[in-house]
Amino acid sequence: MRPAKTSAAEFVPERPTLPKLQQAVQRCRGCDLYRFATQAVFGEGPVHASILFIGEQPGNDEDLQGRPFVGPAGKLLDRALAEAGIDRSDVYVTNAVKHFKFEERGKRRLHKKPRASEVEACYPWLDAELAVIQPKIVVCLGATAAQAMLGPAFRLTKERGKFFPHDQAPRVTATVHPSAILRAPDAEQRHAQYRDFVADLKRIRDALDALPSPPQRETRPKPPASAVTISDSGGARSVRPRPPLLRRRTPRSSSG
Ligand code: URA
Ligand code: SF4
Repeated sequence: MRPAKTSAAEFVPERPTLPKLQQAVQRCRGCDLYRFATQAVFGEGPVHASILFIGEQPGNDEDLQGRPFVGPAGKLLDRALAEAGIDRSDVYVTNAVKHFKFEERGKRRLHKKPRASEVEACYPWLDAELAVIQPKIVVCLGATAAQAMLGPAFRLTKERGKFFPHDQAPRVTATVHPSAILRAPDAEQRHAQYRDFVADLKRIRDALDALPSPPQRETRPKPPASAVTISDSGGARSVRPRPPLLRRRTPRSSSG
């Protein structure tokens, strides 16, 4: 039998730039999801974005248009960002998995959660995006993105809104996925969840303001290995050890 473990790694170009990655991802065969989707949907946003948002995977609209977060979840995200005072031009949005996974129900294509092995296979693309953009804060939207960045033991219900240092960004945090808000059973719960989401985004904006500007894009020192929360005064306070990370390598090699 063929070994099950496949990866996007061999499809990621060396010395990547966003345009190179965007082109190369269309040829990815790192897992089986490319077979059924219309196209790969890569991340989008300015190369010097301070905040990088990670969703789960493209939805139906994203699959058809080839751009991330253009459907209902994306519209909710845009509205919440504006309400939280986060400048959309300082934000890059992407997904843990770059091809739409779905189930056909008559004419409709229903979102299907990607397997951990698919998230793992697709990680080299995210890794390359992180290496190129070097965001100050990574925001994982939902459990799939959070587990891709923070390991399979990460529990969104327990650790939502906490800020973790990470190899690829000074801070990584996680909140709910906007689709989860859209799926709330009634308007009242939807509004409450939306308010909490905007509150998380405001704390992210404040945390961003409190972080020092990175000295040089290529030589950022590794942050300490403990979780921190950003206090009201803007300082960072260690609260707990970070959850075990999946072993990740950036294309940037360690240079000291
Ligand atoms: N949901 C996601 O996780 N990503 C998108 O791009 C759209 C919806
Ligand atoms: Fe490659 Fe990711 Fe698409 Fe799988 S989902 S084929 S790993 S781009």
